[in-house]
Amino acid sequence: MVDLKAQYQRIRGEIDDAIARVIEQTAFVRGEDCAAFEQEFAAFCGAKACCGVANGTDALTLALKAFGVGPGDDVVTVPNTFIATAEAIVLNGARPVWVDVDAASFTLDPAQLERALTPRTKLIIPVHLYGHPADMTAIGEIAARRGIPVLEDAAQAHGAEWRGRRAGTLGHAACFSFYPGKNLGAYGDAGAVVSNDADFIAKVRQLANHGGGANKYDNVVTGTNSRLDTLQAAILRAKLRHLETWTAERRARVAEYDRLLAGVRGVRTPREANGARSAWHLYSIRAPQRDALQAHLKQLGVSTAVHYPKPLHLQPALASFGGGAGDMPVSEQLSREVLSLPLYPELPLETIAEISGAVARFHEAKVVS
Ligand SMILES: Cc1ncc(COP(=O)(O)O)c(C=O)c1O
Repeated sequence: MVDLKAQYQRIRGEIDDAIARVIEQTAFVRGEDCAAFEQEFAAFCGAKACCGVANGTDALTLALKAFGVGPGDDVVTVPNTFIATAEAIVLNGARPVWVDVDAASFTLDPAQLERALTPRTKLIIPVHLYGHPADMTAIGEIAARRGIPVLEDAAQAHGAEWRGRRAGTLGHAACFSFYPGKNLGAYGDAGAVVSNDADFIAKVRQLANHGGGANKYDNVVTGTNSRLDTLQAAILRAKLRHLETWTAERRARVAEYDRLLAGVRGVRTPREANGARSAWHLYSIRAPQRDALQAHLKQLGVSTAVHYPKPLHLQPALASFGGGAGDMPVSEQLSREVLSLPLYPELPLETIAEISGAVARFHEAKVVS
């Protein structure tokens, strides 16, 4: 799916220098590279402030805490996402309320948002799934009318744009993951919260460092230890300088898949909505015979993945929050049909031709038989 070695080989010198610099300074926690990365990543997003944290799940959990989400609150999000989006809600004692996704963009369907809102709704979390931004204009308008803040789950959407503005600036705040396989990935776990509201980011920073005050052992609120490692920050700084190029390379590979898979009967390729510029974290096709296709590709040595095989309203861990089979029809259908094909900046175009050819031949054989 992803070849992290190929990426390392391209920028080996820069990564090795970054690691050596941190070791030389022995400032492993809250070293200079942390603040520098926060500034650079905020600038990349076009936002005012950023707080690095230990991972994307913590970014969400701490952001919700900073919004004051707690027991008795409802938080609206989609079932078609990674479990972490919902964990952040439940870990803060609130209740996830599901809104199905739109079948074209796979992101929160604004047409279904209004009726999910109640006086208890504290926050709305759209997820920019696969790097494709949600319709933040429509979501923002509904949220603003009801006075509810919007938090972007941008874990997969570094540099994604909606109507010319980047993820990180499309709601009140945004959460990012730098898990190694992400478009901007650390060499371990890392995450960040980004916002134009510097006071909000200061709150997150306090929560992520034991609720500390001006003095080291002043603990003003109950927080936790979720600091960004200096080693990860230094690696992320080195990689951030290449991110625009890598996104362009992803886009070129997407165009190649699109070209080769156009017209293959039974396969639907992903599309960018009007106004959207995807970060193309994943290239997920829809194929009704998904499981058979995946098995066929595996036999040929092609790794693929399903993001995600079970919508969150059907996950046992979340069963107590309601929702059964048939309640979220689009998410449920996507869970049966989506298949992510390999995509990364270094993926050779010949490999894309081979994979696309295999997908096409599978469907031709099925049509004939
Ligand atoms: C949509 C989404 N939200 C949240 C997360 C959590 O990020 P992390 O794995 O860094 O905790 C992920 C990561 O996979 C994700 O894809």
